[in-house]
Amino acid sequence: MNTATASNFGVAASAGGPLLGDAEFQFLRDFVYRHCGIALSEQKRQLVQGRLLRRLRALGLKEFASYCELLRKDPAGELGELASAISTNVTSFFREMHHYDLLVEQLLPRWLEEKKGGGRLRIWSAGCATGEEPYALAMVLAEALERTGSKVDARILATDLSPQALEHACAGMYALDRMGGISDERRRRWFLRGEGRYEGYACVHQRLRELVAIQPLNLLHDWPMRGPFDAIFCRNVVIYFDKPTKQRLFDRYAGLLEPGGYLFLGHSESMHGLSDAFDLVGRTVYRKRVS
Ligand SMILES: C[S@@+](CC[C@H](N)C(=O)[O-])C[C@H]1O[C@@H](n2cnc3c(N)ncnc32)[C@H](O)[C@@H]1O
Repeated sequence: MNTATASNFGVAASAGGPLLGDAEFQFLRDFVYRHCGIALSEQKRQLVQGRLLRRLRALGLKEFASYCELLRKDPAGELGELASAISTNVTSFFREMHHYDLLVEQLLPRWLEEKKGGGRLRIWSAGCATGEEPYALAMVLAEALERTGSKVDARILATDLSPQALEHACAGMYALDRMGGISDERRRRWFLRGEGRYEGYACVHQRLRELVAIQPLNLLHDWPMRGPFDAIFCRNVVIYFDKPTKQRLFDRYAGLLEPGGYLFLGHSESMHGLSDAFDLVGRTVYRKRVS
């Protein structure tokens, strides 16, 4: 997926739909910035209009003013749908494979060795979209546990604010043609092929489901979990956030990571100039400093 391009927002307004006026666009910009950390420029007006038109239709609303009214009345209830409409949930299995290589070759063996006397291993997929990232993490984790015979209490937390994305993640069913990143061996091992009406789809193995806990969470709101985490994957999420939002988020990640814990960002994201709690130790891989 190409995260950084304007085409992520890229549906032009349909002809004949209601227009997004100045006051409504300003309201939406403020709302989206406050709740999602996304700063929408004036250039995004047409794109936002096009994207939200579908949502207006689904809700049976005729004007953007009514949609703004709904957001005023029930901000929490509509936030996920709004965020889904203006951002992208596009993702894939084993995207940015070099991060998984680092896990398999270095981090998992080290953590499992360190924790073999007991202890917990926790990985957080923050902004997990439709689940491909946490299930790919679960595959390498399950394989490492099996290979070493480790009995470590290991879990992956997967969170997102998009209700549709999380529904898909919970279902754990994927079209075969979207599973290109998975080796044949892993496909056989970790998926059950659908039959009949599920022909063309595959379902994740129960073992992967057991390792992954899926929860709704807005990264800008309060977090119920206390950590600590050994690693946080927050890839292709902060790309939409402005600088102060990224700074706050990275500080909060530092607070939840183990000393020496890892933060993985997406290929076009960087922490440069935003936090001194981390050192860059690989391609968009950061390690929390041990003070
Ligand atoms: C492009 S996907 C990235 C998926 C996956 N991490 C990857 O790299 O393939 C970005 C995800 O971040 C989520 N997201 C955006 N803003 C968020 C926020 N404030 N809180 C939680 N999730 C957010 C979106 O809903 C979307 O599912």
